[in-house]
Amino acid sequence: MLEKEISKRRTFAIISHPDAGKTTLTEKLLLFGGAIQTAGAVKSNKIKKTATSDFMEIERQRGISVATSVMSFEYLNTLINILDTPGHKDFAEDTFRTLTAVDSVILVIDCVKGVESQTEKLMEVCRMRDTPVIVFVNKMDRDGKDPFDLLDELEEKLNIDVRPLTWPINMGSDFKGVYNLVKKDLNLFAANKTSIQDEYVAIEDLESDALARNVGESDAKQLRDNVELIEGVYETLDEEAYRKAQIAPVFFGSALNNFGIQELLETFIQIAPKPQFRVTEERKVLPEEKKLSGFIFKIHANLDPNHRDRIAFFRICSGIFERNKFYYHTRLGKKLRFANPYTFLAQDKKVVEQSYPGDVVGLYDTGSFKIGDSLTEGEELNFIGIPSFSPEIFQELVNLDPMKSKQLEKGIEQLTDEGVAQLFRIEPGNRKIIGTVGELQFEVIQYRLTNEYGASCRFERKAFHKACWLTGDESKIKEFVKFKNNIARDKDGTLVFLAETPFTLQMAIQNNPEIIYNTTKEFRPNKQQA
Ligand code: G4P
Repeated sequence: MLEKEISKRRTFAIISHPDAGKTTLTEKLLLFGGAIQTAGAVKSNKIKKTATSDFMEIERQRGISVATSVMSFEYLNTLINILDTPGHKDFAEDTFRTLTAVDSVILVIDCVKGVESQTEKLMEVCRMRDTPVIVFVNKMDRDGKDPFDLLDELEEKLNIDVRPLTWPINMGSDFKGVYNLVKKDLNLFAANKTSIQDEYVAIEDLESDALARNVGESDAKQLRDNVELIEGVYETLDEEAYRKAQIAPVFFGSALNNFGIQELLETFIQIAPKPQFRVTEERKVLPEEKKLSGFIFKIHANLDPNHRDRIAFFRICSGIFERNKFYYHTRLGKKLRFANPYTFLAQDKKVVEQSYPGDVVGLYDTGSFKIGDSLTEGEELNFIGIPSFSPEIFQELVNLDPMKSKQLEKGIEQLTDEGVAQLFRIEPGNRKIIGTVGELQFEVIQYRLTNEYGASCRFERKAFHKACWLTGDESKIKEFVKFKNNIARDKDGTLVFLAETPFTLQMAIQNNPEIIYNTTKEFRPNKQQA
């Protein structure tokens, strides 16, 4: 029973550089799955560029995004869980953490722009965990880069082998469709197609007249040449190699025109991994284990004063999650139960009685959870693999009202538990440096500290280049921190060197080569701080 439920599930995220077409593709997948009836029904989780100066607007949009945080639907007897990720780069950390809760990803590339900066960063995170990737090259109705060049670019910039499974016939205004290299059929393109179903023409033999009849003699010849080249250069897709994240199958299409989605979805269902094992500090956890375990990968706080609730997103890693059953919160060492856990069906939330590995449930939270927390049936398990990256922007948090120090302390602790930003305390003393990947978080923090905690503060910009978590030879670290400025401790108490410039970092590395200067750290709540 449990095994059957597990093998039925596919939990994944769609990732892309903003504007490549993630939202459009998500919507089209939901249309395909019958989860929504009309295009435009999915509210964009994308934070519009115009809104960047108005974070309340962004929060409003983030509010909408709770509903689309997880989208589940069934297609051909497969239960598909799409975990949405914010497109805005200031919320990149959110995306990185969500990637720890999926078993595979679909990467969307804009054929005009190719591999962009955010794509590279996201793929780096996928590579850290060997997450299998399928690539969808979008916007083929536009004049983009040559498909062979795109494949080279993918291999080079993303450090992964690729294997096209469909091949486009022209692009832009000449785009005629794609040829399926596995099924050997032709999917002819029609712009503004309203039907989501594609129509296929079987072309067993590329030499046959059927091909030329459909695409014209010269394009038929071009396709024959291209297919010969592909078959000569690229090995046939090894599904095991895909699941080990060594090779990424590639599809071409146009999400806006409902084109090429069916091939993508059908292949995805066929080859994408079912819920996989997860690693904890203690041991490996298999989804088939009878007892429940899982972790919190995201916490969403509602800024709307009428709905001051927090929702913690829990990924089930093993066993069955049941409503109203007591579970063990390993960090707090206490038992909790949930009367209204909910799952997500397209845009609807509904209270759920039972959920299975691979599923994500939303838990109403009154402050019990931090990102990375585990729930079990009593066993001490601490899931690892939720990364923290060195922030890019650093500012000192200055208290403006000494009478409200306590409120400020509490507020900043809680906000950083939610993963809004990272907190570093300069040693010695209690100066607080807040690190983020984007400017927006500072506005959010200031607003929330004032409105939710009654604290009063301002930020002072600090010119730090990187936060480096120090590991390696302990006695050398002790020596090092004695004579350095800008040494801090993060929330877990780990020592961090806040390097002011690339040069100071380089000098530190040169002078103290026994120390490891990590710019990535696994995010783990600290038991002592419970
Ligand atoms: P994102 O979530 O990755 O940020 O991208 P999104 O789907 O919002 O798409 C970004 C823009 O690209 C949208 O246009 C969308 O309509 C367009 N787009 C998506 N797929 C295709 C495609 O296959 N072909 C073409 N030509 N365009 C595509 P927009 O004008 O920014 O937004 P909207 O006003 O259409 O919503």
